[in-house]
Amino acid sequence: MGSTDLISSVPTGLWSSAQRAGDALRRCGRVVIAAHIDADGISSAAIAQLALGRAGIKSSFEFFKKLDGPAIKKLSEQSADTVWFTDLGSGSLSKIEGMKAVVSDHHMPDPSSGARNTCGQTALTDFSTVVQVNPQLHGISGANELSGAGSTFLVALALDPRNIDLAHLAVLGAIGDLQDQKTRRLEGLNRALLSAAIEENTIEAVEDIRYFGRETRPIHKLLEYSSDPFVPRISGNEEGALGFLLELGIELKDDDRWRTWVDLTSSEKKTIVDALKDQLRDSRRKPEAIERLVGEVYVLQKEQKGTPVRDAKEFATLLNACGRHGKADVGLKICAGDRGEAMSDGMVLLRDHRSALSKALTWAKGSGIIRLKNIQFFDAGDEIEETIVGTVAGMLLGSEGADRSAPMVAFAESTEYSDTPKVKASSRGTQDLVARGLDLSVAIRLAAEKVGGVGGGHNIAAGATIPADKRDEFLSDLDEIVGSQITSRGRQRG
Ligand code: C5P
Ligand code: C5P
Ligand code: ZN
Repeated sequence: MGSTDLISSVPTGLWSSAQRAGDALRRCGRVVIAAHIDADGISSAAIAQLALGRAGIKSSFEFFKKLDGPAIKKLSEQSADTVWFTDLGSGSLSKIEGMKAVVSDHHMPDPSSGARNTCGQTALTDFSTVVQVNPQLHGISGANELSGAGSTFLVALALDPRNIDLAHLAVLGAIGDLQDQKTRRLEGLNRALLSAAIEENTIEAVEDIRYFGRETRPIHKLLEYSSDPFVPRISGNEEGALGFLLELGIELKDDDRWRTWVDLTSSEKKTIVDALKDQLRDSRRKPEAIERLVGEVYVLQKEQKGTPVRDAKEFATLLNACGRHGKADVGLKICAGDRGEAMSDGMVLLRDHRSALSKALTWAKGSGIIRLKNIQFFDAGDEIEETIVGTVAGMLLGSEGADRSAPMVAFAESTEYSDTPKVKASSRGTQDLVARGLDLSVAIRLAAEKVGGVGGGHNIAAGATIPADKRDEFLSDLDEIVGSQITSRGRQRG
């Protein structure tokens, strides 16, 4: 798929907003890139940085957990011609109105800004100083069909069609935001970006086991840490996983080195997958759960085998390990191709991230989850960092025995500097709940605004920062709003 074919699959309104963004950037001498700290945000920043560099435009970057007053102040103090917001901005449009800016994002747009109801149009008017590129304004889901990196990639493509060789970074952002979760493959506009990356020989899409760690985990560890689907006696059970593989006659080591999933022959892989399916059937798992074992996975063909940058899911986790622990710049360098110092720093961050997640998950499981009428929650206080509490909420909801009939809300102490203490709230839903009307971005935003906080996100995952003493009021409002969404059974996009 060349750039012309790709552009023809982009809705006209969305493409014309990308062109306007490209035109605005082309007129600049210096641009500040303001990006979100997660894998999608880092992939977006890498696309923006590389595209600007190629166009001869100077750039610098800043990463943010969210766009609040201090973030906007910091950006407006920089002597740049424009700010390019990537993977954030749409939820805070009213705050950046008046600033010269390009926003390439996929979050639910701020309803209090001029962007409201501008479906099919570039958001805001021709007189505005902000150009917004967001799939949600053009009937495309920002949760499943295009990520922040995808929106940013469209702007890069509008700047120069040769930037099509950055398509793999857009795929990486989508995988980082779990946009393949619903159907076990990328869909919608993401698929067109994937085709472009395949044609550029940067990515290969293959049907394979969906468990995490195909490139880097010893096979028994890949099975032990599996959760979607959870296999009784194997998931969460190292001895069980080892015994299962030995019974199948699988060699675990190649000389002294543990074999990983990608070291296996196709017949060994088939033997394991078939045996896992039998085990799932024997434990009366639903066919839909068994189907989740295999799906499309994405291999970064130019990367070295056996490294975390070879598999898109592992690469995205490496980026989250950097960004969610204050080192998004390391992730940015890795995206831009640094396989030396940045890569070794990233590997250390990855190890720490994994152990932080595992500790946090154990803590949250032991802390007791409280079920309200329509939501469930736990409060981690200062036990879990605010930047990973949402990931933990998602992992809990996906784990064996979880109550999946209500979204999970997780609180953690916010490090935000302010006169009054704040808490961070993160929420995660399921595809089933979304199909029944759940829209966490709307629910969280309304409940947060009511108590003087700010929030937003996507239908399936959203977050907010609120005054700490308003937590219970926030919870009870959120419980009520979620109840009204689910009973109203509205069909939502997002
Ligand atoms: O800020 P951003 O849009 O990049 O983040 C999206 C968030 O939504 C990620 O934390 C991702 O893990 C979460 N998500 C999820 N389940 C999905 C889709 C997204 O938890 N099915
Ligand atoms: O922080 P967390 O991982 O829970 O965020 C889930 C989603 O909600 C992300 O897409 C994030 O960008 C978004 N979010 C937001 N506004 C906030 C907090 C989170 O739009 N104040
Ligand atoms: Zn994103």
